[in-house]
Amino acid sequence: MVLAIDGPAGAGKSTVAERLASELGYFYFDTGVLYRAVALRSIQVGADVHDEVALGEIVRDISIQVGPPTIEDGRQLDVLLEGEDVSREIRTPAVDAIVSKVAASPAVRAGLIDLQRQQIQGRGTIMAGRDIGTVVCPDADLKVFLTASSGERALRRLRQVGGSEAELAATRAALEERDRQDSSRAISPLVRADDAVDVDSDGRSIDEVVATVRSLLRERLDARAAGARSDA
Ligand code: CDP
Repeated sequence: MVLAIDGPAGAGKSTVAERLASELGYFYFDTGVLYRAVALRSIQVGADVHDEVALGEIVRDISIQVGPPTIEDGRQLDVLLEGEDVSREIRTPAVDAIVSKVAASPAVRAGLIDLQRQQIQGRGTIMAGRDIGTVVCPDADLKVFLTASSGERALRRLRQVGGSEAELAATRAALEERDRQDSSRAISPLVRADDAVDVDSDGRSIDEVVATVRSLLRERLDARAAGARSDA
């Protein structure tokens, strides 16, 4: 069973995906960390985010390892870049500011696709991102497109990073700009897959959203079991 959760920045994808995966014993993978790690690497080596050749070399040579968290500081995953723990560094405003430009690079997207598909093999998986239902895993058993208004998404992001209300307008503008870039890029833009189920998380608690997605997943599992019985 593969569940794809796509949607704009701060809609709650990773929180919902992680919660549900740990409840169900599924493997959880947040594809955003890969793009964030490449963006951080481009800062470290001083590459121009519009230089396709430089980005191609970075993604060809890069070493990214993603695993369960070993430190309790609110992180969902350990992310190692060239063997170094960058789990917090990939979430800084400097990375936020360029990650969508890096993610628009055809070389970067092509270089990361196999790594994402390898995660799925032979196990129940919940994968979160922007193009999981459309490009990475178009055969996913269930696709959810998770949205919320930009005001609510900005508020949640501020709470997540412990920011103050004074930063709300700037946080909201940064999210909207990232959405604009993610939705308008030529390759694998952020779009809802035709067969995705829309889930709006505006004004709803994490528990409510998790319950909605859980019941969608149950329906799919039941339908599949019924299909298997009628085949037998
Ligand atoms: O957590 P948040 O929603 O802020 O973003 P993220 O999931 O960590 O993704 C960071 C950025 O990576 C996005 O804004 C996209 O530009 C890019 N991304 C992508 O292009 N495709 C994916 N499957 C996942 C992330």
